[in-house]
Amino acid sequence: MFTMQSWIFLFLILCSTQSSCSCCDWIRDHYGTLSREYLSLLDEMGGNITKQDVPVFFPESLYRRMEDAQYEVQVRFLNETIHEIFKLFDENMDAVTWEEKKLDDFLILLHRQFQNLKSCVSPATKFKRLKRFFKKLNKKVLVEMNYSAQAWELIRKETKYILEKLDLLVATMH
Ligand SMILES: *[C@@H]1O[C@H](CO)[C@@H](O)[C@H](O)[C@H]1NC(C)=O
Ligand SMILES: *[C@@H]1O[C@H](CO)[C@@H](O)[C@H](O)[C@H]1NC(C)=O
Ligand SMILES: *[C@@H]1O[C@H](CO)[C@@H](O)[C@H](O)[C@H]1NC(C)=O
Repeated sequence: MFTMQSWIFLFLILCSTQSSCSCCDWIRDHYGTLSREYLSLLDEMGGNITKQDVPVFFPESLYRRMEDAQYEVQVRFLNETIHEIFKLFDENMDAVTWEEKKLDDFLILLHRQFQNLKSCVSPATKFKRLKRFFKKLNKKVLVEMNYSAQAWELIRKETKYILEKLDLLVATMH
């Protein structure tokens, strides 16, 4: 005979498993679609991606660790990375020459991806290495190159690279 408490307990368990599962389903079914849309906007909003090298290196070793990490950690990594990209695009963009509508749509869709990931799992780990990378990218590219159009082209190039890496990670996630 179940007591009231055990019913409530059972109910809570069912709820929590269900919410985490709808989240994995969501990532499996929709992450890629959104990603394809914002990546093509990123391509279309300006001219060709610059051939100039970005003077800061993406933390490949952290990324490789993420490929073998637990599902929840991977989701947090996606969440944190997209959040950091978002912060970059919040800097002074007066000099950019990109098509405004496409830039706006790119940011809207990227934000939608972030919103969907944000509450997917409980937040925990902060990825210090990732934070350092974005800080350096901001300093070495945007600040030192005075938020110039050329600096923003490098940011666009690196953003494309990072978002494509996230796609590859998501492809290994189920
Ligand atoms: C852009 O890239 C394409 C394909 O690589 C090339 O044919 C074209 O000339 C480039 N455009 C400019 C403006 O560099
Ligand atoms: C996602 O990132 C935001 C901003 O850093 C944070 O507030 C939130 O807790 C994160 N969510 C997860 C699941 O890591
Ligand atoms: C950025 O601006 C500073 C001060 O205005 C100037 O000294 C520096 O040469 C500029 N750097 C570049 C890369 O244009």
